[in-house]
Amino acid sequence: MKILAIETSCDETAAAVVSKNPKENYVKVLANVVASSLTFHAKTGGIIPDIAAREQLKFIIPVVEKAIDNSKLKIKDIDAIAVTEGPGLIGSLLIGVETAKTLGYLWKKPIIPVNHLLGHIFANFVSEKSKIKNQKSKIEFPAITLLVSGGHTDLLLMKDYNNFEWLGGTRDDAAGEAFDKIGRLLNLPYPAGPIIEKLSERGIASRFTFPRPMIGSKDFDFSFSGLKAAVWREVNKLKRGVTPEEGLPTARTERLEGALAGGKLAAGPQLKEAVIADICACVQKSIIEVLVRKTIRAAKKYKVKSILLGGGVACNQKLRDHLKFEIGNLKLEIKLFYPEKSLCTDNAAMIGSYACFHPEKMSWNKIIANPELYFD
Ligand code: KG4
Ligand code: ZN
Repeated sequence: MKILAIETSCDETAAAVVSKNPKENYVKVLANVVASSLTFHAKTGGIIPDIAAREQLKFIIPVVEKAIDNSKLKIKDIDAIAVTEGPGLIGSLLIGVETAKTLGYLWKKPIIPVNHLLGHIFANFVSEKSKIKNQKSKIEFPAITLLVSGGHTDLLLMKDYNNFEWLGGTRDDAAGEAFDKIGRLLNLPYPAGPIIEKLSERGIASRFTFPRPMIGSKDFDFSFSGLKAAVWREVNKLKRGVTPEEGLPTARTERLEGALAGGKLAAGPQLKEAVIADICACVQKSIIEVLVRKTIRAAKKYKVKSILLGGGVACNQKLRDHLKFEIGNLKLEIKLFYPEKSLCTDNAAMIGSYACFHPEKMSWNKIIANPELYFD
């Protein structure tokens, strides 16, 4: 089966061509093209939906054309068009969905709608390079999947390719969102996750004691907004040279959200690079410790054979290493999988991958974009 896949749920405009042999349990990438409007968003400190959608309108046709060209396939060789139906920004989703509908109508191809979140998980079944082909074939069920992106932090029990049970998720900020919002407090460009990881290498991860929210709770939920508040207090304290309490406004949370939205912090000199690096290292450590503790607990409870990571935060090498270390330390018979970095962040190959495993085709006029889509 050969699929043209389209992904436009957030700020990326992506198209890929993938193929899957029915006898194999991995997907081959024939072309994978991603255009991003991140340079715009780096300046504004976050994604502006209107700008993202306008850029995607410009990119979508050239990106789809390039993916088909790179794949060396003819349009007649393509069996179906997969597209992200949700969740995401409605303006962005519509560009992908309407493009898929138009091409489906013109080329007389069926459409396969794909949940973006499940796409992130199925990035683990993509084999871009032949050397990882063998490893892919070893993913065994049941598995725990940790989905950590800019918009989501979810733990799922995956019993097989079609059977998912949602165990828990974030009650407020997602892990990637926490990295990005804290980055904004530190005047780092968006997206801050990769920059915080880089700066952390030079930081002292024991200098500040930031909270590890919900680390001991019996459920599989997460909460990262308290961490953001703690960093805000620390940054204010460092800038003003006052105690955390003195540095805080009285109506704490509303003022904090307002300050974060406007990027307002205590006046004063910019923090020194070494201090920023220390904050980054401590923040990264807090987030990773919570993610690892809950993932391992779920893996033990459900006696899984594999752990799969997905989403942009799964690029983080410390997260990968820490999980690997804990699995070894606890002598668990569990294999850890994560997609290569270019497949952790938003891309269309992962959407094509999910579609290859779930080729539930529909006519072009049946698909509807759903920004609120979650796990069923
Ligand atoms: O999956 P993704 O590309 O988009 C969503 O579906 O949200 O994830 C983007 C998120 C951003 O929040 C970004 O800061 C984070 O992934 N991210 C990282 C790293 N690379 C990307 N977070 C921590 N460490 C990284 N190396
Ligand atoms: Zn994503």
